[in-house]
Amino acid sequence: MTAVWVLNGPNLNLLGVREPEMYGTATLVDVEKSCREVTDELGWDLDFRQTNHEGELVEAVQQAGELQRSGELAGVVLNAGAYTHTSVALADAIAGSDVRVIEVHISNVHQREAFRHHSYVSAHAAGIIIGLGVAGYPLAIRALAGLKLG
Ligand code: DQA
Repeated sequence: MTAVWVLNGPNLNLLGVREPEMYGTATLVDVEKSCREVTDELGWDLDFRQTNHEGELVEAVQQAGELQRSGELAGVVLNAGAYTHTSVALADAIAGSDVRVIEVHISNVHQREAFRHHSYVSAHAAGIIIGLGVAGYPLAIRALAGLKLG
């Protein structure tokens, strides 16, 4: 069975209560449900995770790369939160594992502070979905399905 991993970085466990004017009122559980609807439709397996720790994200990306190489993974939907703007280690993990990544941001980071305008992830991403709210997550899974077929 094809799998997809959805990886969420720091503070995304607070979705729903965290700055709702910026990120909306859906919780991470709601986001997982919306992702599962799509993976069920595709007949894919979903692994949905959140961590506040940079090293855990790095390790997950490396493992995802291995799984993709063995033909079991379509790719990763990655919202790295603030590590997007700071983590060379995460960028190196994506490049080094050669995993297919769709980068997602709930908010339009380009309308926000200048430090959010640069992403270390983007250079290694197959595609980027920014500013569409939590709807970006299921869209990213569909994008992976399109890339896998195409
Ligand atoms: C975010 C944008 C980041 O700048 C921020 O640090 C987050 C969430 C988003 O989904 O809009 O934690 O990745």
